[in-house]
Amino acid sequence: MTTLAGMGVGRLFGPGRLDPGHRRLHPRVVRSPSAGSWRHRSRGIARCVDTESERSRAAQRRQGRSASARGGAGFEPDHSPRRRRVGGRGQTRRSRREAQDDRARDARRLRPQGSRHLLDRRAQAVTALDASARRRLVALDGSPVLGGSVERLLEAIAEGAEAAGGIVTRFKCNEIQVKPCQSCGPEPTTGFCVFHDDMDPIYEALRDAHAVAVGSPIYFDTVSGPLKLVMDRCNCITPLVHAPGGGFTFRPLWPRTRRGVFVTALSSRHRHDLAEHSVRGFMKWIGTRWEETLAFAHDDEGLGSVVARPELLEHAREVGRRLIESPPLVPS
Ligand SMILES: Cc1cc2nc3c(=O)[nH]c(=O)nc-3n(C[C@H](O)[C@H](O)[C@H](O)COP(=O)(O)O)c2cc1C
Repeated sequence: MTTLAGMGVGRLFGPGRLDPGHRRLHPRVVRSPSAGSWRHRSRGIARCVDTESERSRAAQRRQGRSASARGGAGFEPDHSPRRRRVGGRGQTRRSRREAQDDRARDARRLRPQGSRHLLDRRAQAVTALDASARRRLVALDGSPVLGGSVERLLEAIAEGAEAAGGIVTRFKCNEIQVKPCQSCGPEPTTGFCVFHDDMDPIYEALRDAHAVAVGSPIYFDTVSGPLKLVMDRCNCITPLVHAPGGGFTFRPLWPRTRRGVFVTALSSRHRHDLAEHSVRGFMKWIGTRWEETLAFAHDDEGLGSVVARPELLEHAREVGRRLIESPPLVPS
């Protein structure tokens, strides 16, 4: 699973500005980065962490450590007694034979090690191939709250997707630096957008996605601000362009092959259909077909109170599995 952390609350709520007694902001700042894959650092690191590559990097680090503990570069440490140079001064017939034996022993000792090294490299290449063939789910998390209901629902979707063999990349929209869309006009010149900021990895992840999960709490009947920034910046995935015969037309850059779900949390006295409408429009713009909405409507303001609804979390896991197992849509 991937997490994108950006400027983080450290920058927004620096020591001088943060009220440490605040029940919601406080835990974000003190929470340990090592508290799990969905518990992210509160300080600004604008980077995208892919669970898969993170795991393989960790494996490589471990391999590297054990390689250096063994003497490095895939060779065993040389425990043999110090040898004399073959054919050196004063070398006897017997010592020459000994030296030849030593060389033969070295060759035997190093050959399997060398080929194992090659095999490791081949295995790594196969793993990379395998990763590129695996289906990818991108989760856009619009909730600024850590451990909130939206986050927990997305986490359950990610669990299901990973259990089905998918690779999940999550972006916490509140923790990235994204400029608002400037409506710069037809055909932006550089890549997807004239700006290059934390949207760049999002564009790439969405482009390569097999499925998309968009999560947001309901804020004033619609999606949260952080998610809205990301959604607006995706306008250029289906840009307005000059039509050959004059006038303008929309030109989708990506075919509509992805499946999408919307995940939300709100008060049971309120509505989520307006947010859903907005998200469905966004999904269409990024080559995704909306399939369903998972709404957690509650009567309390407890942090992450969706945990009291295990059936909803289980459903989210099933949705994650289904998103990965379903074939890509055939573009109409
Ligand atoms: C700025 C703001 C606006 C909100 N507006 C609404 C709203 O219009 N309707 C509603 O049901 N809840 C509203 N809420 C409450 C949240 O949607 C609700 O607490 C949600 O469960 C938060 O989910 P989360 O903890 O996963 O982020 C609002 C909360 C905030 C902070």
